[in-house]
Amino acid sequence: MKVACTGRSRALGARIAEHLGAGIVETNLSRFPDGEIYLRTGPLDETTVVVGSLLSGDSLVELLLLIDACQRTEVLLVVPYLGYARQDREFKPGEPVSARAMARALSRGVSRVVTVNIHKESVLSHFTVPASQVNLAPEVGEYISGLGLENPLILAPDRGAMSFAAAVASVGGWETDHLEKTRISGEEVRIEPRKDGPWTGDVVLVDDIISTGGTLASAARMLRAQGARGVHAVCVHGLFAGSARDLLRSAGIGQLAASDTIESPESRYSAAGPVARALSR
Ligand code: R5P
Repeated sequence: MKVACTGRSRALGARIAEHLGAGIVETNLSRFPDGEIYLRTGPLDETTVVVGSLLSGDSLVELLLLIDACQRTEVLLVVPYLGYARQDREFKPGEPVSARAMARALSRGVSRVVTVNIHKESVLSHFTVPASQVNLAPEVGEYISGLGLENPLILAPDRGAMSFAAAVASVGGWETDHLEKTRISGEEVRIEPRKDGPWTGDVVLVDDIISTGGTLASAARMLRAQGARGVHAVCVHGLFAGSARDLLRSAGIGQLAASDTIESPESRYSAAGPVARALSR
């Protein structure tokens, strides 16, 4: 078994390979003058674990090319961050179910798929091969334990993140709660004040994705105004689109952390162990 990774997933791919005791497939990537991607892999084994997050059009093309280049072998696909999963239904007439389109495209030529904290579990049913996800709530909990906060409140910014927050909180036996969020636009959300009143200790906001940072910045501002001592944020997939980092810092967020499903300076804990264990099952 060998592990082949796309350019944006090299660090996580190497960690997964280490957990599996597998070698890495050397992959060279370049571009034709018109921008098309050219890719060539080194020697393969009987089975290839292809690791690549879906972040943009180019990352999808690179992933499809890598899967194709490994077709002589059995391909187990790991998509640490499955982009487009938030468009999981036709919200307005005429829209695509983008998550379905991606899942179908990525099912071709692979025998199974493993992903990490997918935005909605129902998206897994769109893959035409067996697909599963791993939940990094225990890793988030371990990371928070290491911060040494005294009795932090683990807070979900909306109802959708409630079960994730509860799973994180169970690691340290911490209290958990959720806020009410209304999305106004892609960048703007409204967060209602906490129903149970102010929390004057430390709060750790946990979510699956930080994109523009709008959700957690609004929550942090409200919590700080209510008197929280410190507000920290931990997500699984740190997209940090545009000026997200500045927005989060100016909202008073202290510690800011994400996993390595999308490699960034905020990657403080890894998905490698849980992914390797899922592949071994
Ligand atoms: C939405 O339901 C997700 O769980 C995240 O809360 C959302 O994607 C975060 O986006 P942003 O950082 O742009 O507010």
